Amino acid sequence: MQRIAILTSGGDAPGMNAAVRAATRSALARGWEVYGIHNGYAGLLSDTMNVLHARDVGGIIQRGGTVLGSARSPEFQQDAGVDQALSNLRARRIDALIVIGGNGSQSGSHRLQQAGFPVVGVSSTIDNDLVGTDVTIGVDTAVNVTLEAIDRLRTTGSSHQRAFLVETMGRNCGYIALMTGIAGGAEVIVTPEREVEPHEVVERLGAAYRRGKTHAIVVVAEGAKHGARAMMDHFKAHRAAIGFGLRLTTLGHVVRGGVPTAADRVLATRLGAAAVDRLATGTAGVMMGLIANAVAATPLAEIAGRTKPIDCDLLDLARVLAQ
Ligand code: F6P
Repeated sequence: MQRIAILTSGGDAPGMNAAVRAATRSALARGWEVYGIHNGYAGLLSDTMNVLHARDVGGIIQRGGTVLGSARSPEFQQDAGVDQALSNLRARRIDALIVIGGNGSQSGSHRLQQAGFPVVGVSSTIDNDLVGTDVTIGVDTAVNVTLEAIDRLRTTGSSHQRAFLVETMGRNCGYIALMTGIAGGAEVIVTPEREVEPHEVVERLGAAYRRGKTHAIVVVAEGAKHGARAMMDHFKAHRAAIGFGLRLTTLGHVVRGGVPTAADRVLATRLGAAAVDRLATGTAGVMMGLIANAVAATPLAEIAGRTKPIDCDLLDLARVLAQ
C-alpha cells in the first residue's frame, strides 16, 4: 500500500473531520501518501482531489461538517459512474479508498469493492441506522442538539400550558426521536418503526392535561407516516379534547451542524485510525463500526441496503414514565 484516498459522503455528520484527521495522520505515519477527495463521490467522478499533509488536517477536530465537502451523487449509482470512478482512481495510482458516510455511501463502497477496488467504510450518519455498528459518528451530537431544543421548548411550554410537537431528523429511522423523547421526558414518541395514530396522540395529550401537566412534548420522527404537520392539522380540529395550546417546531438541519461532542470526536478518531489499520492488513471490503464498545469490521455485503432496527422496548418504557 502506498497511496490512499479519503472521501466523506451523504449527509454531513459532526465528527467527520475528526475521522478525516485520524485516517490521514495514521496513513502518513505508515509512510503512505493521502489524497482528500472533494464533495464525496461527485468529486471522485470529476477527479477533484488534492494531496493531504498532516498540517492540512490540523485545527479541524472540533469543527462540525466536513472540510472535504460532501454530496449525494446519483451519477455514481450508474454502472458508468463506477467505471469512471475506477478509471480516475487508477490514473492517480491510488491503491485503496476510505469512505466516511452512512447507508447510501456504504452501498457505494460495496459497489466499488465488488468492481475489484479495495474500500474500507467508516460508519458516519446522524441517523444511526447502519447495520454493523451500535453507534455512528455524528449521532451523539445530533441527539444532544435535539435534546437541548426540546428542553428549551419544554420551558416555554410550561409557562404557557402548551403542547409542543417537535419534528426530529432521522430519515426513515426513529433513533433520534426515541433517544431524545426518552431523555426529554416526552409524552408521546412517534417513529416510523412504531407509529402512533393522531387520534391516540390526542387522547394521550388530553389525559396528560387532565392529570394536571403544565406542558407536553410530542416527538415525531421525520419519517413517520403521520408527520408533524399532518399531526398538527389533526390537532387543530380537536383542540378542545387536548386542552393544551399547541405549537409545532421542525428542527431539521439545525441538528446536523453542531460542534461534535467528545463522544463523536473519540469515536471518529478510533474508526478513522482503524480503517487505515484494516487497509494495512490487506483486507478491505468492510465497514468499521463500534460493537459492544470495541472497534469491529463488518463486510460491506452485509451492510449495503439494510437498516438497523431501533429498540422498541424503550418506547414502552417511555410511555410508562410519561404518567
Ligand atoms: O441522512 C442524514 C439526514 O440528515 C437525514 O436525517 C435527513 O432525512 C436527510 O439527511 C436530509 O438530507 P438533505 O441534507 O439532503 O436534505
